[in-house]
Amino acid sequence: MRIDTLRLVGSAQTNRAMEAELVRIAGKTVGARPPAPKRDGTGQLAYPWDEALATAALTYHRTSTRVVRDLYSSGARRLEPLYDELAADVAADDRGWDRAVRTISVEVRRVAEFAAGERQVVGTVKNAIVDGARARGVTLAVDGERPDALVVARLDDRGQVLIGIDLTRGTRTRRGWRRDAGEAPLREHLAAVMAIEARYDPRKDLLVDPMCGAGTIAIEAALAARGAPVHGDAPALWPATKPIIVAGDRDLDVVAAARDNARRAGVDLIMHRGEFAAITRDKLLAWAADAGTVPPAGLVLCNPPWGERLDVADARLLYGALADWWRSLGDFRAGILCAHPEFEYAFGARWKMKKPLSASSNLRGYFYLYEPQ
Ligand SMILES: C[S@@+](CC[C@H](N)C(=O)[O-])C[C@H]1O[C@@H](n2cnc3c(N)ncnc32)[C@H](O)[C@@H]1O
Repeated sequence: MRIDTLRLVGSAQTNRAMEAELVRIAGKTVGARPPAPKRDGTGQLAYPWDEALATAALTYHRTSTRVVRDLYSSGARRLEPLYDELAADVAADDRGWDRAVRTISVEVRRVAEFAAGERQVVGTVKNAIVDGARARGVTLAVDGERPDALVVARLDDRGQVLIGIDLTRGTRTRRGWRRDAGEAPLREHLAAVMAIEARYDPRKDLLVDPMCGAGTIAIEAALAARGAPVHGDAPALWPATKPIIVAGDRDLDVVAAARDNARRAGVDLIMHRGEFAAITRDKLLAWAADAGTVPPAGLVLCNPPWGERLDVADARLLYGALADWWRSLGDFRAGILCAHPEFEYAFGARWKMKKPLSASSNLRGYFYLYEPQ
């Protein structure tokens, strides 16, 4: 069956952040609020296809990992009916998605329930598309390395096979500005999710990440504040926004790497090398004044160490000290991503929001939001 859907794919539990970010971007780029999306699981949003909205998402949307145009769906569970249906749909397709396409590559996801192996599904989808296009006089070849179009096929929650074009051509969480540093750099799109979940407002909030590692949170927040493109050289959406962002770490090498990363990303951060406890409210306000403005509110946004090397006693000390420091700042909010089982207890404060957010595939983390107490 022919369908036409704009699909934003992200990490689990990020639908709300992805939707809020698209509303903000669409307001500036297409001048209209997108329709309410259909939610597919906790990390996928589906909108009716809209070329302008898709271009905006592709260019500026930071919280998704993929932007996909779904073109066909099928309820088939075996290879032959899938081939027949898809080849016929492609042959009858007049939308021209393959007009400028010479080569394709096919990826499949979540097809475990399909009555065939992954490779066979790939082969069937590929043959159906190539044969269907040929029936319209379009010649498509396969190029696994650098295809013009990356075709993705997967099963959705309702058991339909969806076939579409991944407009991001693979995951785009790697932004290009980052050289990894420190123990566990956060994936970039999750840093963008944290800023949105914490309601970071660059016009009002002084943002501080006192344990910045590679600088991911600070840099993503600065780029989002300006509405910088995720890839390419489109103009920033809010070029005049000058966020005040402090990033610190006690590890000298890590601070140097974060500074390099910020330079590559083209953002200005106020860098601090040292223990977070040395960052006082007075210092923050003085740095902000030096940088031009003192924002009226403040937000701590960070992901503290949580690895196995951190034993329970050390974890309690560290998270307890972090809570004391955060309180000492006065009226700052705090948004913290942590996967350590001791965190919530040791931090001690009552959270306003707690939601599962996994910083890596093997650790179940949570994002906590605290209001000044
Ligand atoms: C999980 S990493 C942060 C990763 C970072 N979000 C990124 O994307 O690269 C935690 C960082 O906290 C730093 N750190 C640990 N204890 C600290 C302390 N007391 N003061 C300042 N930084 C500290 C470590 O050096 C490490 O870089």
